Amino acid sequence: MGGLIPDSFIEELLGRVDIVDIIERRVPLRRAGREFQACCPFHDEKTPSFTVSPQKQFYHCFGCGAHGSAIGFLMNFEGLEFVDAVEDLAGHAGLEVPREAAQKARPSTDLYEIMSLAADFYEEELKNSPEAVAYLKKRGLSGEVAKKFSVGFAPQGWDNLISRLGTDANRLSRLKRAGMLSQGKSGEYDKFRHRIMFPIHDRRGRVIGFGGRALDDDGPKYLNSPETELFHKGRELYGLYLARSSQAKLDRILVVEGYMDVVALAQYGFTNCVATLGTATTGDQAELLFRAADEVVYCFDGDRAGRKAAWRALEATLPRLREGRQARFLFLPEGEDPDSMVRTRGAEAFSEALDHAQPLSEVFFDHFTGEVDMKSMDGRARLVELARPLMDKIPGGVFHDMMRGRLETLAQHRISEPVGARPGPGKRPHTAGKPVQQRTPMRMALAHLVQNPSLALNVNSLEAFEGCDLAGFDIYRELVDFCGKSPNMTTAQLLELWRDHPAQSHLNLLATWSIPGEESRLAQEFMDAVTGLELQWTDTQIARMPKIVDLGMEERKKLLLLQQRRQQLIGALQGEKPE
Ligand code: UTP
Ligand code: MN
Repeated sequence: MGGLIPDSFIEELLGRVDIVDIIERRVPLRRAGREFQACCPFHDEKTPSFTVSPQKQFYHCFGCGAHGSAIGFLMNFEGLEFVDAVEDLAGHAGLEVPREAAQKARPSTDLYEIMSLAADFYEEELKNSPEAVAYLKKRGLSGEVAKKFSVGFAPQGWDNLISRLGTDANRLSRLKRAGMLSQGKSGEYDKFRHRIMFPIHDRRGRVIGFGGRALDDDGPKYLNSPETELFHKGRELYGLYLARSSQAKLDRILVVEGYMDVVALAQYGFTNCVATLGTATTGDQAELLFRAADEVVYCFDGDRAGRKAAWRALEATLPRLREGRQARFLFLPEGEDPDSMVRTRGAEAFSEALDHAQPLSEVFFDHFTGEVDMKSMDGRARLVELARPLMDKIPGGVFHDMMRGRLETLAQHRISEPVGARPGPGKRPHTAGKPVQQRTPMRMALAHLVQNPSLALNVNSLEAFEGCDLAGFDIYRELVDFCGKSPNMTTAQLLELWRDHPAQSHLNLLATWSIPGEESRLAQEFMDAVTGLELQWTDTQIARMPKIVDLGMEERKKLLLLQQRRQQLIGALQGEKPE
């Protein structure tokens, strides 16, 4: 739970910070009764449906379904990983994040430091190199934008970096772990030589890797940092930190292929651009993109390779298309990339092209209709066969319904509701008229516990549930036990401690249920749910008994007891005093 940060710390941290305070610094809140309200920062809206509960230390948007603790809010709003969000909060609360043993052996702070020193070194070297400066000029880069992106230069030679930074064994080993060195027969040497250097920043602005462009035709055009403790290509996007620091929430984010493209576009005023790092767009990257903006525009070459890359991006995007999010695709004319296009045609023309980017739905259906014979019945059947599995990756909702409608029109055939069209994990709004989940006694009991952990103290014993195998009962038992041990926990603390639990997303959803009724009656309502649960279990046991003629004495006694208990439970639910 929370990786190697001890649970006790997560609990303490959430006990110290106030979610209202954390959110208010980023989103202006208005008091509304016992809660606070705002227009949701995670989707477009005019009337506020975003609420923050100081009591639960939990936020929830009734419009888009976003919800979570202060940690979750920071992850969502700032695009941070769990550990980074915890560190931010801890800094805010003046606490030091304790590390469990394994984490201590991983002093990644040292690696961040050496990377930052390396970036400084390259920047300095750029100033000293007329050759590198001339190259950047030739490419049209302004000094200003080069500075903004901390563009640097690795000079010619095998050991410039080593002799500057690898001055002792410890530093040398850090350079190595950070992926800055290559291993030769007679020792290490600088990996990046005679290259323009683009530092890659993580979401907190720390240097975690580099991309280096060759000045001449020697070796590969680009050399990138290898995977290291700090750098995981598939989970980072070049330029994201800078793009995000220009504005808290961008309207649109543009994804291009190259370092040079990001820098050139920024120079022309498009400060909302990022690049995948020479790989196909991953699901992690798609998620990061949507955390940064509701609209993602992927920009690819119009050639075969570009089409293929676009399709990979589309596949990574589908499962993340929840309400309010959209993706579009811009295919550039043959032989152009964003860098060349914005320089030769100007910002306005590029902006215009962006506005005409193709919606994902169009790219999706064009891809398939090009592949089958739409005039024949067999072809249209094949279309359904091909498109269905991918379409089912889209979370249930308006967009999913519309895509299905379009497929029906194209196929000239009605398509049944897919099994997979269910709400995305805890992210779906409960609008659309139909409740997302039926309020069964089990779910109600769990919802009450999650929202008010101290209610667990009302549960005296689980004796009546011996052998119970009702769906969800294991979670109920675990939760009663957990809450009983720390009844003063808030909803947020509870959910963070269950972050890695298999039932976590289920409980998160239940935490967002609005439970009408007065505070003073909460305990009674909870107990009613528990009574309902016992009734369900009693009925199940009765139903599982063999026919009465086949019963022995003991079993008959048991049946009688069950039937009596059943009457009592029904009476209790109807307001009679239980025995
Ligand atoms: P491109 O070949 O399109 O280069 O590769 P570019 O970004 O337009 O660069 P310039 O304009 O020629 O300087 C796009 C991206 O693919 C990765 C890099 O991330 C690059 O920015 N790439 C390309 C590599 O990793 N290695 C290579 O050898 C080439
Ligand atoms: Mn280029």
